[in-house]
Amino acid sequence: MNKRTIKKLAQTALDMRKMAYVPFSHHAVGAALLAKDGHVYTGCNIENSSYSPTICAERTAFAKAVSEGEREFTAIAIAGGFGEVPETYCAPCGVCRQVMVEFCDKDFVVILVKTPEDYRQYTLEEIMPLGFKIEDVAAGKYAER
Ligand code: THU
Repeated sequence: MNKRTIKKLAQTALDMRKMAYVPFSHHAVGAALLAKDGHVYTGCNIENSSYSPTICAERTAFAKAVSEGEREFTAIAIAGGFGEVPETYCAPCGVCRQVMVEFCDKDFVVILVKTPEDYRQYTLEEIMPLGFKIEDVAAGKYAER
């Protein structure tokens, strides 16, 4: 991925933190999901008084994209933290990683953003080895059935 694209995604993820609805954790997360056709879908985390309906920024972006007919993705930038500027590289939770496995190839790029110049880049395979996918089960990759 070229640096210009990464910086644009990183800035969008940072901007999306402003939309986060986080009255409980105060941990604001923004995401920018790049589809293979070039469209960028955004997301923020949306918390709930009942806690468990909370949705992460990454899954908000995937829900928006898939519900618009998008199925193929190149990369996601994620920016999350408590302060004005993220103080850590916010890694996606296990549920979001599982959603990525459902729709993305092993080389899908996951960018954890502090600033557009300060980020870490991983592949989906690095952060989610042995992810569960129904095709793999059907192909007998994990176990005899
Ligand atoms: N959260 C995300 O939106 N994405 C992540 O990658 C990690 C966690 C949200 C969920 C919850 O609203 C808050 O951050 C604290 O866990």
